[in-house]
Amino acid sequence: MYNENNQLLVFGTGAVADILINEYLDFGKNTIMAFVNSVSNSEKEKNGYPVIPLEKIVEYKFDYILLAAGRYDRLYDECIQIGIPENKIIGIIPEGSKKLILSQNKINESVKELFNLNIETLFKKPIPTFFNSTINFANELWLDNNVGIMQQYENIDIQRVMALKAVSREIILNNVPGNMAELGVYRGDFAKILNQLFPEKKLYLFDTFGGFQNADLKEDKNKYLSKQSTEAMFKDTTIDLVLSKMPHKEKCRIIKGFFPESVEGIEDTFAFVSLDADLYQPIYDGLVYFYQRLSHGGYIFIHDFNNAYFSGTRKAVMEYCNQENIGYVPILDYSGSVIITK
Ligand SMILES: C[S@@+](CC[C@H](N)C(=O)[O-])C[C@H]1O[C@@H](n2cnc3c(N)ncnc32)[C@H](O)[C@@H]1O
Repeated sequence: MYNENNQLLVFGTGAVADILINEYLDFGKNTIMAFVNSVSNSEKEKNGYPVIPLEKIVEYKFDYILLAAGRYDRLYDECIQIGIPENKIIGIIPEGSKKLILSQNKINESVKELFNLNIETLFKKPIPTFFNSTINFANELWLDNNVGIMQQYENIDIQRVMALKAVSREIILNNVPGNMAELGVYRGDFAKILNQLFPEKKLYLFDTFGGFQNADLKEDKNKYLSKQSTEAMFKDTTIDLVLSKMPHKEKCRIIKGFFPESVEGIEDTFAFVSLDADLYQPIYDGLVYFYQRLSHGGYIFIHDFNNAYFSGTRKAVMEYCNQENIGYVPILDYSGSVIITK
């Protein structure tokens, strides 16, 4: 059992230790006795606490030694070698550690045991355990409640959401003007995140809300799916369902109909656009329509660039980008999006 007030030794004096202490450690429930540094003897104190070499640990009566450095396995072995009981060693196990179980489900289910941390007792907020590498841990984007984001959207594509999160921060920091749009909304799962990240911006939601347009399908020969199954896709949605997911419904503009005809009467500029219509023609038309209306500093995410089933998106992006001399950045999300900016 964890005590009310844990006496801690912190093994590590670098960036990981700083982040853990400044951002996560609950000083109402823990007292730091000293920092431990087994490599260099140069520092004598850190944040007003003594820095001691590993061999001096025996002089302290402590509840836990918190491993707060990237090389978990090495520090762990050093602790064991000088006789610290295993149940007193706590810390964050980074990727690449022998002790890391590589299944994400397993990690999620047994996070406390695996990380050997009692989160409620020791920390004031959840630590970023999902990708659990100190590289991510030292990335300031990770310190901004990203664990919460991942828990909230556990059924969606984390790589895409994290890329969106990074991009959205740039849009906000740079005050990029313009509104938001998604072409290809389906049941609104990505749109809901756009609506949440940009509560002040209008969000245009373009979809037939009844699946693909037959004319578009003629262009796209899908080598894996039959004509019937492609025609049947994405029909199981309604506008009400989509709107029910939106935290800021008043900002949503539902544009039901076939794109690009459906844009009739809309006059706006955009800070962010998601193109997720799967097929060559709407993606090409989407690039033509939105790129010229994209604000300086704005972004377009184009889903399915590297989709093994639908090849039309890649064709549309390459054609448009070559023609207009625009670069694109592929990301490793599900189905392979590319991002373009202006
Ligand atoms: C892959 S789904 C979109 C998924 C959605 N972004 C999400 O977060 O789950 C593709 C959508 O594009 C829509 N779509 C494809 N071609 C279209 C067109 N020409 N006009 C309007 N909507 C279209 C389909 O109706 C379908 O709902």
